[in-house]
Amino acid sequence: MVGAAGLQLPLWAQPLGRPVLPLLFGVDYYPDHTPESLWEEDARMIADAGLTNVRIAEFAWGLMEPSEGKFEFGWLKKSCDILNKNKIAIILGTPSAAPPPWLSKKYPEIMEVDEKGQKLHTGGRRFTCPSNKTYRRLSVAIATEMAKNFSDTPGVIGWQIDNEMTLGSSRRCYCDYCQQGFQDWVRTKYGSLDKVNQAWGTVFWSQTYTDFSQIPVPLPSGGDPNPGLALDYDRYQSYANASFIEEQLAVLRKLCPKHFVTTNNVSLLDVIDLREHYAKLDFASLDNYPGFFDMLMRESKVEMPPDAISAMIAMSHDFARCIKRKPFMIMEEQSGKAGQKTFSPQPAPGQVRLWTYQAVAHGAMGVNYFRWDTATFGAEEYWHGMLNHDRSKSPAFEEMKQTVRELKGLGQELLYSEYPAEMALVFDYNSSWAVSIQPQHFALSYMNQVTAWYGSISPNHSGVDFVAPDGDWSAYKIVYAPLAHVITAAQAEKIKSYVQNGGVFVAGFRSGVKNESSQMVKTPLPGLLAELMGTTVEDYVPIYGAKQSVKFAGMLAGWAAECGLWADVLKPNGAEVLGTYTTGSYAGKPAITTNNVGKGKAVYVGADVTGEGLANLLGKFAGMAGVKQSLQAPRGVEVTVRRAGGKEWMFLLNNGAEATSVTVPGGFRDAVSGKAYSEKVELKGFDARVLLAG
Ligand code: GLA
Ligand code: ZN
Repeated sequence: MVGAAGLQLPLWAQPLGRPVLPLLFGVDYYPDHTPESLWEEDARMIADAGLTNVRIAEFAWGLMEPSEGKFEFGWLKKSCDILNKNKIAIILGTPSAAPPPWLSKKYPEIMEVDEKGQKLHTGGRRFTCPSNKTYRRLSVAIATEMAKNFSDTPGVIGWQIDNEMTLGSSRRCYCDYCQQGFQDWVRTKYGSLDKVNQAWGTVFWSQTYTDFSQIPVPLPSGGDPNPGLALDYDRYQSYANASFIEEQLAVLRKLCPKHFVTTNNVSLLDVIDLREHYAKLDFASLDNYPGFFDMLMRESKVEMPPDAISAMIAMSHDFARCIKRKPFMIMEEQSGKAGQKTFSPQPAPGQVRLWTYQAVAHGAMGVNYFRWDTATFGAEEYWHGMLNHDRSKSPAFEEMKQTVRELKGLGQELLYSEYPAEMALVFDYNSSWAVSIQPQHFALSYMNQVTAWYGSISPNHSGVDFVAPDGDWSAYKIVYAPLAHVITAAQAEKIKSYVQNGGVFVAGFRSGVKNESSQMVKTPLPGLLAELMGTTVEDYVPIYGAKQSVKFAGMLAGWAAECGLWADVLKPNGAEVLGTYTTGSYAGKPAITTNNVGKGKAVYVGADVTGEGLANLLGKFAGMAGVKQSLQAPRGVEVTVRRAGGKEWMFLLNNGAEATSVTVPGGFRDAVSGKAYSEKVELKGFDARVLLAG
């Protein structure tokens, strides 16, 4: 394909829907943890398992640069050579997630400082500052040497920069270098101190800045930080992480033009803006550990329905696909018992296959299992891989082999097919960060609201995309925006024209409360959305006691629901009332309204409707918007559709342990076994099937 400038674009840069990369069904491999005498055997076994690639070296800085400026790549070249001879492709990791001890000893200023002002210590990983110029220089230096040494190495196809910048014991860095970086960023953003002082309202508590060097970072200070400064600081940290990655990217682009470049993350976290993070990378990569995640939820005693974990994993996959609106890769997928000091049980038979299919169903074009052998030393001795500590095959080994064989058989066309979606959910980092800075209710969280709304609309099986507030919404019949807390003038205009042109826009409570500087709007809430919604908010009420109740009316008549954490008490001004509070001091007042505007509708859900009530409510709005439910499936069964070149695949994923069945319309055949189905499709516990229509 020829790009705009007449240049031949590399394969990975070709648009969605075209075969772009070799098959990527691989494993995360650590020759650096394994005696050299086993490398040949490893490579043979990896190839015998049908795996196509490895990711290696992302934590091997100490072996590659044993002392400053002295590089040693012989061992890695040898490993690449062995892998390549066994036809295994290689994704190389740059090692900046964990510098070796000589480096941290010599340059102690690179250490991250946490939100309490405590310097992190060495001995773990992810303890470095994203702004520190010395650390950036040293990270770029090792990445440059790697790029020079491996740009033409047979078998090497791409790069992962760093490793999981969103993870670590501390969410963000608050060191002196970050403070300086923040001051520069603020200067560039605002141009003058007057504008900064205006935007943040620094007259409060006598915080007016008369020199950029006075601007602090939000560390403990005897009182809460300025919300505008704190929100800008989150933006700055996102920028710092993205630009850290981009420094290495620039070198890799120059020296390795034939290779793809990505980085990996857990997509459910909002620490940094992943859209910004991946903007210049070729595709997004996700790390996925459903069993480990389940264990963490149990440990933190979060009460959840049984299908909540699979819905959250589906959500993180949908988010990953929508970061760049194209297929993504699972850089690490749980393959066995997973955890560090404590670990999750062995996945049930079928579960690793199911997780792999779930990823592909939602848009993964490749999956690496984490990891090949299980480490016999180090902090992750209990993070089990495809081989046990004694190098015997893990309980899920044959299952992974079978899964890879099946997925290879399904082919590239499916992996790069379209994921049709009629519904979209807004994910707005500004709102998420602003609510984290001032939750307003101790239990209120943007992530939880988004998760609850996703869990309510996904059983429609009509496809859900995540969109940015300023993204393209034209393809969707309905756009949901829970807790759309920060609304800019441009966003309000965009929402208005989306609705006027026939879209249904559903906002949650506490929407339109703030501007982009985190200042309160000065007009009746929901501020810039009030006219569109045809309602204002008469009062807003955090609920700390028993849940309140809401009774539905109009098109929802006959239903009732509970209201959990929050009640926006509405005062309609042209909008129709769809729900009314029935308990609490605001009983009888409107809770939910809908307003006809142009060809569309604007809905305001003022109550924090929970559980089944929310699913009923949001599902009803989808119906109102004309969203077609692809089919009815029992709870816990996911149905996703993929399309390419006139073909349509339907994934049926049973996330439950019990057998069940789904009734499909028309004629289908199993894309793996070829078996024909016309009606009932039986699914074993944790079963996954791909059906091809026609
Ligand atoms: C993360 C990291 C890996 C490894 C695994 C298992 O996803 O990227 O380096 O630590 O988890 O813990
Ligand atoms: Zn820092």
